[in-house]
Amino acid sequence: MNIKKWGALIAAGVLAASPTLFGCSSGGDQGSTTSASGTDTGYTLINDGKLTVAASLDFPPFENLNGDKPEGFAVDLMGLLAEELDLEINYLPSTKFDTIVPLVQTGGKTDVGVSSFTITDKRLQQVDFTDTYCNVNQSITVRSDSGITDVSQLEGKKIGAQTGTTGYEWAAENIKDVEMVGFDEMTAVFAALQSGQIDAVAVDLPVANYYVKSYTDCQVIKEIPTGEQYAIAVSKENPELTKALNKALQAVRDNGKYDELVAKWLE
Ligand code: ARG
Repeated sequence: MNIKKWGALIAAGVLAASPTLFGCSSGGDQGSTTSASGTDTGYTLINDGKLTVAASLDFPPFENLNGDKPEGFAVDLMGLLAEELDLEINYLPSTKFDTIVPLVQTGGKTDVGVSSFTITDKRLQQVDFTDTYCNVNQSITVRSDSGITDVSQLEGKKIGAQTGTTGYEWAAENIKDVEMVGFDEMTAVFAALQSGQIDAVAVDLPVANYYVKSYTDCQVIKEIPTGEQYAIAVSKENPELTKALNKALQAVRDNGKYDELVAKWLE
């Protein structure tokens, strides 16, 4: 299924009602501290034996939907981490990006937020982050026939970005007299660029590179060296979970499986 169709499904709310690849859980013990094998872990989980994940599944190649199945680098990575922790993984239905950090902070609905979250000072006030699992830069994409070849030509223009992202913030702060247009969902940003509703898109470079494969009349004109680091968001109330995830992250780096995922999704 192509990206545009996923967008249509999301818009129709079809996906919200579908079970995810790993199955939707219901009920379970609040505040469990045991893994599937019954070991005392020191951390709490929404559902016993399961790591519940909130994600905005619109960000290939990191987290995306293939039909109703979450897929991507971060989805595979979470699968590996869950395996290390002897837990099942449970992706919630795709969640609006700018609601995920507050959801993790409030607790009760998800154990972690995994949505290519760049570690920022503002977010660090709300949640804890694990060690980083990816480094990226920002980018600018335009329609190939727009004649725009440099950021300086974007002055006073309409820039689209996903609401609440570092791309939105970068463009708002760095492009003179910019008119920012915020979207809930990444697919909608590229659709708006294609249709001429906006003049450019600001988004993490690997994601722009992925989208232009299907939006072939658009091109990435600029890499912006913002040096962003992705990490998993965890509640400040659950520091042992952050520690356990860091340990698992180190284990999958050491056993070579992390590198396999990089080769599969990011090269
Ligand atoms: N890295 C950017 C940020 O942290 C964008 C992340 C958007 N993620 C997504 N799954 N749509 O703000």
